[in-house]
Amino acid sequence: MKKIGVFVGSIRKEAFSKKIATNVVKLLPEDYEAEFIQMEHLPFYNQDFDDERDVPEPIVIFREKMKTFDGFIFVIPEYNRSLPAIVKNAIDIGSRPKPENVWNEKPAAIISQSPGNLGAFGANHHLRQTLTAVNMPVVQHPEVYISNAADILDENGNVHKEDTIEFLQSFIDEFIRLLSKYN
Ligand code: FNR
Repeated sequence: MKKIGVFVGSIRKEAFSKKIATNVVKLLPEDYEAEFIQMEHLPFYNQDFDDERDVPEPIVIFREKMKTFDGFIFVIPEYNRSLPAIVKNAIDIGSRPKPENVWNEKPAAIISQSPGNLGAFGANHHLRQTLTAVNMPVVQHPEVYISNAADILDENGNVHKEDTIEFLQSFIDEFIRLLSKYN
């Protein structure tokens, strides 16, 4: 069984990101299991934690946990043309100390969404830039920018547009192909 960690870049109750992520994990093959990653309990990263070897327990546990995943899916909204800080903080925490970077060579897939028209392009590409820095191979094509997110979901939070489901399936298929090169 392969394990996929899922980062949802919004902790609000009715987050479109969470609803879309819940639909997306159903598209994984049967021998994959997905787990949503908790981030809201993590302190802001402080380099002194590692320099002084006094790392808070939640960070120690988080880093160990991340090592157990084979790859990661990010479903994020855009905050002021970038990715939400909660996700960036989690990535920063996992990236240090540098020789122990937990993200190294772990494949990743990015989905950005917005209730607006631009599909959170800015957030998607800022995240891509950061994942390059921590040496995560990222699915390049297809790129997934979901615009007008409310329109693709029904009242139960299911993606109801058939062509969107097919598109997301092709994206997950590419992610699996990328994973097979690294695991
Ligand atoms: C936003 N929103 C937003 N939307 C967008 O398309 N581009 C942006 O730059 C921003 N900036 C932004 C900043 C902040 C601080 C907030 C709170 C919101 C709107 C955002 O897309 C909307 O609230 C989504 O519903 C957030 O995603 P979730 O929570 O539904 O997953």
